[in-house]
Amino acid sequence: MSNIYLVGFMGAGKTATGRVVARRLGRGFVDLDDAVEEQLQLSVREIFESLGEGGFREAETAELGKTTLKVDLVVATGGGAYSSPDNRRLIRDAGAVVIFLDPPWEAICSRLDEGDRTRPNWIDDRRARTLFVQRRPDYLLAEIHLELTGSESPLDVADMACSALRETPCAS
Ligand code: S3P
Repeated sequence: MSNIYLVGFMGAGKTATGRVVARRLGRGFVDLDDAVEEQLQLSVREIFESLGEGGFREAETAELGKTTLKVDLVVATGGGAYSSPDNRRLIRDAGAVVIFLDPPWEAICSRLDEGDRTRPNWIDDRRARTLFVQRRPDYLLAEIHLELTGSESPLDVADMACSALRETPCAS
């Protein structure tokens, strides 16, 4: 079966939800940030510091490309991955299904708060909010849009994702 990609902003719960969805559907799970870190043997923050965001994005696209050569995966992308037209093309050409996890800004903000030290693109709430607004139209290109309150657990969101997948003909 085609892969499932989870997209959405930092702190939307893509990794936690993706793990549960993969377990429920008996699929493999890939966290794209982890794949990039493993490939370069550096943390995301170190990659941003040594290669810049451009270097990180190149590695991200390369790892994303590898996932599209496989099937039966659930892939949690990083918050900026789906804003790249090249990445969206890779996913579309692979016939995969994309799910947008969409908690409100306030929920994301209270999860990550000012200056998340592990996320180089979360510099402060004001700049993160600008990115959130800029990226939203890209996330909305996903076939499945899960509007969340932000108080759901990863198990709840996985339930919602699995029901939406059952109702999406291209997901089977
Ligand atoms: C980024 C989000 C991060 C990671 C990197 C850049 C972004 O992933 O890919 O720090 O630009 O939004 P998460 O969405 O998993 O935090």
